[in-house]
Parts: sequence; C-alpha cells; structure tokens
Amino acid sequence: MEEKLVLSERKEKAVILTLNRPDQRNAFDFAMLRALKEEVDAVRFDADVRVVIITGAGDKAFCAGADLKERATLTETQVREFIFTIRNLFSDIENLPKPVIAAVNGAAFGGGTELALACDIRIAADTATLGLTETRLAIIPGAGGTQRLPRLIGRGKAKELIFTGARVPAEEALKIGMVERVVPAGKLLDEALSLAGDICRGGPIAIAQAKYAINHGLETDIATGLAIESNAYWITIPTEDRLEGLAAFREKRKPVYKGK
Ligand code: COA
Repeated sequence: MEEKLVLSERKEKAVILTLNRPDQRNAFDFAMLRALKEEVDAVRFDADVRVVIITGAGDKAFCAGADLKERATLTETQVREFIFTIRNLFSDIENLPKPVIAAVNGAAFGGGTELALACDIRIAADTATLGLTETRLAIIPGAGGTQRLPRLIGRGKAKELIFTGARVPAEEALKIGMVERVVPAGKLLDEALSLAGDICRGGPIAIAQAKYAINHGLETDIATGLAIESNAYWITIPTEDRLEGLAAFREKRKPVYKGK
C-alpha cells in the first residue's frame, strides 16, 4: 500500500500530523499540500482534538520547503496556483480554533519555516536549522514569511534573514525569538506532547478565544484590540466550563472541562 503523505496519530487529546516524504526531505509538492489540507480540515471541527502538533518524518528535515523538482515542471500559472494554495493552507492553520505546535525536527527552509511561523508555538530539536532562503532562488517567501517573520522577531532582523537567505541554527533561532523552545532531538515529541498536556488543562473555549484575541488584536490598534479581547471574554462568560472552573476551585479539585 502507498504510504500516506501526511500521517495523523492521536495521542490523548493531541493529534500529531507528520509530513511524510522523508526521502525528499518532506518538501511540499501539490499532493502533500492537499493531504495536509485534508488533515487540517478534519481536525477543525473535531472537538476531541484539543492541540495539533505538526512535525516531519525522519531526523533530517521538518520540511525542505517547496518541492523544487516539481517546481521545475510547473507553468507560471501552476506556480501561482501552488503559492495561492500553500498561503491559504498556512492561514487556515494559523486560524484553527486550537493551538498548533510546530515540532521542528530538522531542516526547515522556505515553506518549511513558513509553516512553523504559521503555528502558534515552535519547539525545535537542537539539530534543527531554520531559514527563509527563497531569495537565494531569486523568489521571495510566498506563504506568509515576509509578514509573519517580522511580526515574530522584528522587522530589522527579519529583513537581515530574508535578504541574506541565512540558515539559522536552533540555538540562534531561540535567541532571536524565532522558536520558543529548543530541546535535544530525542526529546522533541515528548516536549511537544507535554506542552500539549499543559494546554489541555485549560478550558477549550477559553484557549480558542485567547488565540483569536491575540491573532486578531495584534493586527490592529490597541483600542480595537481591547474591543476584540472584550468580545472574546464575553464568549467565555455563559459557558458551563467557566462555572466548572469556579466550582472546582471551591471544591479544591481539578476541573473537568467539556468545551461547553
Ligand atoms: N525539493 C525537492 N527535493 C528536495 C528538496 C526540495 N526543496 N530538498 C531536498 N530534496 C531532495 C534532494 O534533491 C534529494 O533527493 P535525491 O535523493 O533524489 O537527490 C533528497 O531530498 C535528499 O536531499 P539532500 O540534500 O541529500 O539531504 P540532506 O539531508 O543532506 O539536506 C536539506 C537536506 C533540506 C538541508 C537540503 O536538501 C536543502 O538544502 N534543500 C533545499 C532546501 C531549500 O532551498 N528550500 C527552499 C525552497 S523555496
């Protein structure tokens, strides 16, 4: 049987999506883009999935970006279609109403780093290397990289990295805020699952609303951002989970949240 291009594995309330073209360093061709979209669409409305972890198969690469062999065969129109598809897919990932953790297990270049940037939190193996290397190929990051990297690490550093196409080792990426944690390669998935477990202690609606308020509030002025926060808070008030949190505190027990 043919191997799936994106593997999906449930681990309690988390799902691990694994880009699965290790022989091609998990580079994105059209088929793997479509396979990832299918998995992302499937978890969107699955209330049992609280956290999504995205990683790459093998120990060499998280994702080597666009499949440059396929790219060489595409017409200009097909290249536009590819960029349109990957950009929308990464926006879908950014807008999932649940946290998405990138477990960067190796090289993440071009679209690989852009995928990590679309995730909420990035954990890198100490062997990983990241970079928006597109200008070396006389193109630019087209799946959100020119927008998300400066928002994450500041415009000067982002310009330095994008203009030079630099490859940034994990420890350096940690120093500049391009990833949030670096761990020994063998501990990467455990760390991601442990973070997922910590997140799952909170209320699902609260976490979805916190993500919404941060993502949308940061893109506007503070008065509008505070209004977005206020609306997001309001959504948590009539929930069963909010009352459960108060009851659990009163009764000195752990809350059991249902996402209601
Ligand atoms: N597209 C298509 N195939 C790719 C690829 C990509 N982006 N990146 C790697 N591969 C393929 C190689 O062509 C090679 O295939 P082959 O066995 O048919 O020759 C295979 O994956 C292994 O690559 P190799 O370079 O030998 O592996 P490595 O572990 O030594 O290095 C990378 C991995 C990712 C560091 C290196 O392959 C690389 O730099 N790739 C280009 C990444 C890039 O520039 N991406 C930006 C896209 S905009």
